[in-house]
Amino acid sequence: MLSTQSRPVIEATLPIIAERISSITPKFYQRMFAARPELLDGMFSRSNQKNGTQQQALAGSIAVFATYLVNNPETTPETMLSRIAHKHTSLGVVEEQYGIVYEHLFAAIAEDLGDALTPEIAEAWTEVYWLMAQALIKIEKGLYARQANATIYSNWKLVERTATGADSVSFSFEPADDTAATIAKPGQFVSMRMPMADGIRQVRQFTLSNDVESTTRRTVTVKLDVDGEFTPVLHNSLKVGDVVELSNPYGDLVIDTEGAPLVIATAGIGCTPSAAALQTLAAAGSTREITVLHADQEFASWPLREQMLESLGQLPNAKIRTWFERGELPEGLDAKAGYMDLTDSLTADSQVYLCGPLPFMHAVRSQALAAGIPAEHIHYEVFGPDVWLAA
Ligand SMILES: Cc1cc2nc3c(=O)[nH]c(=O)nc-3n(C[C@H](O)[C@H](O)[C@H](O)COP(=O)(O)OP(=O)(O)OC[C@H]3O[C@@H](n4cnc5c(N)ncnc54)[C@H](O)[C@@H]3O)c2cc1C
Ligand code: HEM
Repeated sequence: MLSTQSRPVIEATLPIIAERISSITPKFYQRMFAARPELLDGMFSRSNQKNGTQQQALAGSIAVFATYLVNNPETTPETMLSRIAHKHTSLGVVEEQYGIVYEHLFAAIAEDLGDALTPEIAEAWTEVYWLMAQALIKIEKGLYARQANATIYSNWKLVERTATGADSVSFSFEPADDTAATIAKPGQFVSMRMPMADGIRQVRQFTLSNDVESTTRRTVTVKLDVDGEFTPVLHNSLKVGDVVELSNPYGDLVIDTEGAPLVIATAGIGCTPSAAALQTLAAAGSTREITVLHADQEFASWPLREQMLESLGQLPNAKIRTWFERGELPEGLDAKAGYMDLTDSLTADSQVYLCGPLPFMHAVRSQALAAGIPAEHIHYEVFGPDVWLAA
């Protein structure tokens, strides 16, 4: 709970911090990585530092948290904290590291604000930082405690790789050590860690696309990003028999077997959580009313389409509608040319799940809101730092 002394100080300084936070966070990361270069080996993504998305996500989360506290001093923004905590635990963030972040973040704030940072302002923002840190630490401890093991990563051997869509590959792994594996839920992801050509380890998250509830097999489906660092190594160098490190499964965008009518709207590789959910729901004999909407460049570029169509065939109350930007439309499938239009697929009580590129999610979320779906019934997964929230 934000103290009565700090609340007016935070309220008065929020505009200046919100304005300066985008120049504070790059200074923070520069300071932290200079003092702790080991955090760039197997923890933080070098690409998200270079393209600026992690700085934006951190800045946005602090501004959102402080604004929320001023308006609701006795509660915390659960959805945002949960997303961050799931990401943190998939990377092995621990309580002791919050002191490191505090030290360098506040040094960056002091550097940026200069004399404008009075002791009173520093104290109030320190309180906000530790309220946020304590809330995250609590959720993270709970998430770690739910796992079948106490390790962050275990070794998994590649046993199969299958091309799907135009530029994606499904990679299936089996355990390469005797660490007990946690049963995942549909919609969850794992962090994968591998050394890059210069020997520095990088980590990326991938949604489990198949075999979700298996403890002896993990499958992810990965789109090649030719401008990226990790996926070219995965696509071009990883061979059957090679071993990678995978984290336990995390992620709070979980799709339940039963419940209100479900609308899953995806584009491109964003279909991985949908494919996982459909397979798990089909295996559980779900009778949930499900509408799957998928948009892609063309029919041939749609990854996991065979798996998704097979699962849909086993679900008594499921239907699919598709949109393709170019190419011939497939026969025997509800398919249209152009961009997705969600409107006709919604009912007042729909629970809507979105996954795909940000412009796509902006567009379909606006359609859902305009159709009267309450914002809290619209859930989304960003395949990178959540810069949507930051904006
Ligand atoms: C929860 C979650 C689930 C995910 N699930 C999936 C999934 O199921 N399937 C999947 O394919 N992906 C998934 N992703 C995305 C995945 O984690 C990677 O972000 C993605 O595959 C790209 O990785 P990469 O290393 O190849 O690209 P990165 O190296 O991360 O680069 C990403 C982009 O950053 C930019 N960039 C890189 N270097 C620089 C530079 N020096 N300067 C400026 N810009 C630069 C480029 O535009 C590049 O395209 C998921 C992400 C999250 C967070
Ligand atoms: C109160 C303190 C903290 C806040 C507010 C915070 C906030 C965030 C946010 C918003 C993200 C992006 C989440 C997403 O949308 O994917 C993130 C990711 C991350 N955080 Fe934190 N964090 C904090 C503390 C820490 C600590 C102590 C560490 C450990 C050193 C850490 C390491 C990371 C890493 C490695 C990522 C992923 C970055 C990437 O790969 O691009 N964070 N954090």
